[in-house]
Amino acid sequence: MRRLNATMAACFGVCRLHTRGPERLVKLCQKTHLQVQRTLARAPVSGKVQALRGTVPQDASGHHQSFCTIQEERRERAERSVLISCPPKINEKKFLDYLSKHGDISNHFFYQSYGTYAVVEFSSRDTVALLKGSCSIPSVQHEAAVPFKSRLLSLKWTGSQSSLSTPRCCEHSPVPVNELIQELSRQESIDEQLRCLTEAYQLSEEDISLRFLVCSLLGDIAAAYFPECIIRPFGSTVNSFGKLGCDLDMFLDLDGIIGQKQSKGSGLSIEYQVKRGTSERTVTQSILSVVGECLDQFGPGCVGVQKILNARCPLVRFAHQPSGFQCDLTANNRVAMKSSELLFVYGKLDARVRHMVFAVRCWARVHGITSSIPGAWITNFSLTVLVLFFLQRREPAILPTLDQLRDLAGPSDKCIIEGNDCTIVSDLSKIKQESNTETLEKLLQEFFEFYGNFAFNRSSISIRRGQDQSKPEAAPLYIQNPFETSLNVSKNVNATQLERFVALCRESAWLFQEGEVLKRSARQSADLTPPWGLAALLLPSVAESAGVKGRRKRKREPASERIRTLLESLKSNGGVGSGKQSYAKPRQ
Ligand code: GTP
Ligand code: MG
Repeated sequence: MRRLNATMAACFGVCRLHTRGPERLVKLCQKTHLQVQRTLARAPVSGKVQALRGTVPQDASGHHQSFCTIQEERRERAERSVLISCPPKINEKKFLDYLSKHGDISNHFFYQSYGTYAVVEFSSRDTVALLKGSCSIPSVQHEAAVPFKSRLLSLKWTGSQSSLSTPRCCEHSPVPVNELIQELSRQESIDEQLRCLTEAYQLSEEDISLRFLVCSLLGDIAAAYFPECIIRPFGSTVNSFGKLGCDLDMFLDLDGIIGQKQSKGSGLSIEYQVKRGTSERTVTQSILSVVGECLDQFGPGCVGVQKILNARCPLVRFAHQPSGFQCDLTANNRVAMKSSELLFVYGKLDARVRHMVFAVRCWARVHGITSSIPGAWITNFSLTVLVLFFLQRREPAILPTLDQLRDLAGPSDKCIIEGNDCTIVSDLSKIKQESNTETLEKLLQEFFEFYGNFAFNRSSISIRRGQDQSKPEAAPLYIQNPFETSLNVSKNVNATQLERFVALCRESAWLFQEGEVLKRSARQSADLTPPWGLAALLLPSVAESAGVKGRRKRKREPASERIRTLLESLKSNGGVGSGKQSYAKPRQ
């Protein structure tokens, strides 16, 4: 077995590092190097912004702000902001002076997405009203305009053309993987590589602001029917695991309308007359249908609107062109919002959580384990739950169980949604962490070993208890929904996709065990280091090219026959998900 390990390690190492061929890689590195330097030499992030992204913001008295407080602040800022399409070159000072005539600007930034845009946040909502008062509806030739006055505006530059320049734009899309691999390879340790990956991929503060602004702009349109409604972002926009370019999940919150109660005491009350539907679901479908229609017909920048009303969770999907975001609008989706808060809380408890989630998500994406297209693959949400579960199982545990988070909750945290107990503590200072000091390198290696050997065939994963349990049904992968505990969040995953995940975990664990990825070669030139560590794990996989079925068609490696035989023998010895350690070295 020991010899087999060594042979496989050598094959994997050779194939991984040679997949693109050393010369191609060197050329690629030289070509992309300048670009990488440019892309990653981002403008320094201000202390305040860093605090918002990396740690829990604190209020004036030094207390950590809760998830709800942070979201509410961002929403309020979005309500006094406008989005302006600009010519490629402007005189920034003149532009800001013009806008300031209407009132104080508290923040602004530019970004590129099918053109140049500016997000301008004013100090007061009244200023937005004043600015809108000075805007005109364009006259269009051969067509007719829908006279809807939104906060999506266009700047026409009619003045002097001198002293115009391209405004400095903030980061809006992720670094391409080949550039990321180069940057990771330049880091001094695997721990630094994971931190570098999070830094390169995480949503910038500007991107989050833009996401809240898009929700607010769409809310103005939905307000045509429901003036008190709020469109709230959830999912990776707010759960602290969002990657630049991820979709924008939103839900139409009508609770502000439904929750208003008549005061009691007089013996009289007056109710609204309302139209009734046969179920919550049919009401949700009809609301989404009209809002979707409105976005399609009147929503500036909303294109490709699809109403997917028969899905388990009915939604309207569209692209918001000015921001470049792919949007999913749902309604009546409070549990998903609570799941986002749960992930946010876990992400804030220990910095290693986000680094692990970003690394595992990136690893899964490059190997085609996850996809942006719905299907039988593992979703990012399921993958995140797998990381959380793994971290709960460390000794000492890095994360508390969901039951522990519920037990620490105060009376104001009590939250029951559709009969499900969704209570979690909001005051993070109540959570006492155990002193686990494992490095990210160790955790990443152990993650791959843990899931490479997990008995998926008989056990389910539950972050509520932090224990694997017997599977209640025969799905290949059973991950208990944290709040709707009778549901499986990975019900969509078929046996092939699970096999691919396990095979890749085994391969990565194995590269670690044999020290292949740990070898950081001396720099060949001042700037060029062959992929190593996490970067090597992101290179195309041998397991996939060796015949484990995958979506992505890859070229067979020259040594594939030999490696396939080895993999086959490996599979027949252990069997995916049987929990038998067929490949692993005995632990020292
Ligand atoms: P991205 O892939 O970056 O968009 O990650 P995401 O976390 O936003 O995932 P996605 O867009 O697929 O789903 C949005 C949110 O819906 C998730 O963060 C969860 O809160 C919730 N969600 C997604 N899938 C499930 C599921 O199967 N069950 C439940 N209960 N919630 C889910
Ligand atoms: Mg999402």
